[in-house]
Amino acid sequence: MTPSFVKRKTKQFLKILVHSSIIWVFLTTILPQVLLKLSIPLQLNVIPSILSNTEIQLLIAHPDDEVMFFAPTLIELLKPKYNNTISVTCFSTGNAEGLGHIRSRELITSLKILGIDDVEIVDDETKFKDSMSLEWKSNDILEYIKKPIILTFDKDGISLHPNHISLFKAALASSKRVVSLKTWSFWEKYSSTIITNYRIVLKYVQHFTNDNEINNSSDKSVSIFNDLPSVILTIAAMSFGHQSQMVWFRWGWLVVSRYVNSNELIIVK
Ligand SMILES: *[C@@H]1O[C@H](CO)[C@@H](O)[C@H](O)[C@H]1NC(C)=O
Ligand SMILES: *[C@@H]1O[C@H](CO)[C@@H](O)[C@H](O)[C@H]1NC(C)=O
Ligand SMILES: *[C@@H]1O[C@H](CO)[C@@H](O)[C@H](O)[C@H]1NC(C)=O
Repeated sequence: MTPSFVKRKTKQFLKILVHSSIIWVFLTTILPQVLLKLSIPLQLNVIPSILSNTEIQLLIAHPDDEVMFFAPTLIELLKPKYNNTISVTCFSTGNAEGLGHIRSRELITSLKILGIDDVEIVDDETKFKDSMSLEWKSNDILEYIKKPIILTFDKDGISLHPNHISLFKAALASSKRVVSLKTWSFWEKYSSTIITNYRIVLKYVQHFTNDNEINNSSDKSVSIFNDLPSVILTIAAMSFGHQSQMVWFRWGWLVVSRYVNSNELIIVK
């Protein structure tokens, strides 16, 4: 690979991302507004009743999980029309590099930006050590599980991170309803708005053709798409909230990650 080849490919890639983002703004933000003006309501997110009028507890392992992965869900479910309250329990201070005290404060700031005040940060390195190789015990986690609806990672924990997976296992072992965040494949994870656009178009087609079959098959799966203002809020929570973490690859995450603009939830039980 010559440098000019790499340069050409990078340029092509950035061009695709920019075009896709423009289409995405149209689909999520402009089109619904225009149709509303024409009295044609078009709802992008259909939230099942289990995720409204309730108290939801988000379990995360490290400060910044809330915004790196769960922001679209938090922003949607906190809309006043759903009448939810959301609290967050974070099981470590993210002390792998000795920055735990700063990262805890950053988590509080980030959640404030997202509109959440109820935060519990568990600082117990004997039980919950921030580590890429440690599973935490379900019984230790269960003590902190309190609300009727538990929102957390799924069995693959986004990146197979054992800390994330421990939270899912504990939630399953609890007596609560459990909603997990689906781990996407590599290409979907890093598809920015490209796969999102495709899914939104499908959803709109389904909406207008009232195709029951598609509608039927997704009973346990809830797709959440954010619009432009919500993604701006996510970027603010991440970049202003988690200042100590904003190295180059986090900016890269904001640009290419699909988790910044959408989430897929699975109602597990
Ligand atoms: C809002 O949710 C709470 C539970 O968190 C419930 O007790 C209350 O009745 C709900 N209010 C409305 C107007 O549905
Ligand atoms: C929808 O699902 C129900 C069971 O959950 C099934 O009985 C029904 O046939 C399905 N309808 C369609 C159109 O697939
Ligand atoms: C599925 O379709 C039915 C009838 O078309 C509609 O009443 C219902 O709200 C739809 N459910 C979801 C989750 O979209």
